[in-house]
Amino acid sequence: MNVELIIQNATVVTASDVHPRQDIVVQDGKILAVGQNLGSLFSATRVIDAQDGFVMPGGVDSHVHLDQDNSTTGDNFETGTRSAVAGGTTSIIAFATQERHHQSLHPVVEDYHSRSAGKSYCDYGFHIILTNPTPTVLCDELPFYVSEGITSVKLYMTYDPLKLKDGEILDVMMATRNLGMTTMVHAENSDMISWITARLAEQKLTAPYYHAISRPQIAEDEATYRIIALAELSDIPILIVHMSSKTAASHVRNAQTRLLPIHAETCPHYLYLTADSLRPSHPEDGFSGAKHICSPPLREDRMDLEAMWTGIVNGTFTTFSSDHAPSKYDHPCGKKAGLDSSGGMRYDKVPNGLPGVETRMPVLFEGGVLTGKVTPQKFVEVTSTNPAKLYGLGETKGAIAAGYDADFVIWYPTAQQAAVHGEAGTAKMEPFVLENSMLHHDIDYSPFEGMEFHNWPRYTILRGKVVWDRDNGGLVGEMGFGQFLRRGKSTLSKPRNKWVNEFQPMPEIKRPSVAYP
Ligand code: URP
Ligand code: ZN
Ligand code: ZN
Ligand code: ZN
Repeated sequence: MNVELIIQNATVVTASDVHPRQDIVVQDGKILAVGQNLGSLFSATRVIDAQDGFVMPGGVDSHVHLDQDNSTTGDNFETGTRSAVAGGTTSIIAFATQERHHQSLHPVVEDYHSRSAGKSYCDYGFHIILTNPTPTVLCDELPFYVSEGITSVKLYMTYDPLKLKDGEILDVMMATRNLGMTTMVHAENSDMISWITARLAEQKLTAPYYHAISRPQIAEDEATYRIIALAELSDIPILIVHMSSKTAASHVRNAQTRLLPIHAETCPHYLYLTADSLRPSHPEDGFSGAKHICSPPLREDRMDLEAMWTGIVNGTFTTFSSDHAPSKYDHPCGKKAGLDSSGGMRYDKVPNGLPGVETRMPVLFEGGVLTGKVTPQKFVEVTSTNPAKLYGLGETKGAIAAGYDADFVIWYPTAQQAAVHGEAGTAKMEPFVLENSMLHHDIDYSPFEGMEFHNWPRYTILRGKVVWDRDNGGLVGEMGFGQFLRRGKSTLSKPRNKWVNEFQPMPEIKRPSVAYP
């Protein structure tokens, strides 16, 4: 039988196993078979020799901001998704943002469909950011979007234009509980941050570094504890996004020990960068620290960074996402919105967020897999398998097994593999130091410039098609090949049907009976 693609000599890595010497047979964009010595049973239009390199499920980056109105100098679907595939990611989930004045989600979702349709290099889905959860939105529109394959929402506890009150959050939680949607939460205490920000402004302490001072760990710790309590009260699974604090992670860990379905995510920058990067890097540019303004902020204490690594290894973090939320640095509507013509610096006017969709997988491979800190299986679990399962893609993405989408990232054979197999011709990668010009986003910097890499995705394959071939053409995929992902419900966790006392919200009441003031 002739098939479209065979990957030979693969060291297949899944969330559970590492299997050397495998052949993967691909037909019609799906995995047809995985096993040893399949090459004699099939001929193929294209054969890729993985030379014992790791072959993993393509990355699923479940936290990516593209073409957002609040970041006019950021990436759109074209530039963001080409960057994704060049870093081993085959699926992203981006955000369709409801603004407060939007009474209905319909124009919002239509708008994001038109921003993305035909413009994506990788497969993509949407989370809905809810900022105005009216009864119509919760009871009539969310059920419609679940049927359309949009099965997750993100809520904010901070940022004035986005944040919800606790009562509103509970109303949303009851709706998402009834619908089996996944609820993501940005957990920081808004009033603490505003209160500190006002006082720093009075003291004229507004250089980029003070961004970190204005959003201390305790603001994340308090909001994390509070959102866990709200999730326990409403008996729903949640995912707390972009965690950065050791204490906040311990709240998650404690909740998990109590068997609450609390999930958490951390991001590359919280593993590697400290608040020191908010200070000027060159004497001639006192504002360069603004490049590293994101929320929660980079932390001062290395204990927090260590705790993020620990949380990946011990399972506190379900997912490892980029939170790609970029703005150009050298642009008056980008990071330099915080710099006035007289050189005055205002961290609180700088758009928040970092680029990172392309570097997400390579930085964790470098600091985690190659150092032995993170097993290859754990790497696959947090970068692909868990986000696929949590967000309703678990039947098609995130695994290497017959019937799954043929989405792969193939790494160069590592030095150890080359040594074990003694293959002279093995294509080990030449180490290199990252420069921004090597990346495929439309942003003028990367927080990981200057980092040395000993591996990088050699091939990225989406539904059987090579979209990234580092040694032969680089970006070889086509814009528009990426498809909208109609997602199902989470297969990772669901409500427990346990309530904190005899009070039970009545499930048959769909509309909130009390409008929240
Ligand atoms: O600083 C960040 N992370 N900005 C992006 C928006 C968000 O809160 O995820
Ligand atoms: Zn609008
Ligand atoms: Zn956020
Ligand atoms: Zn984000």
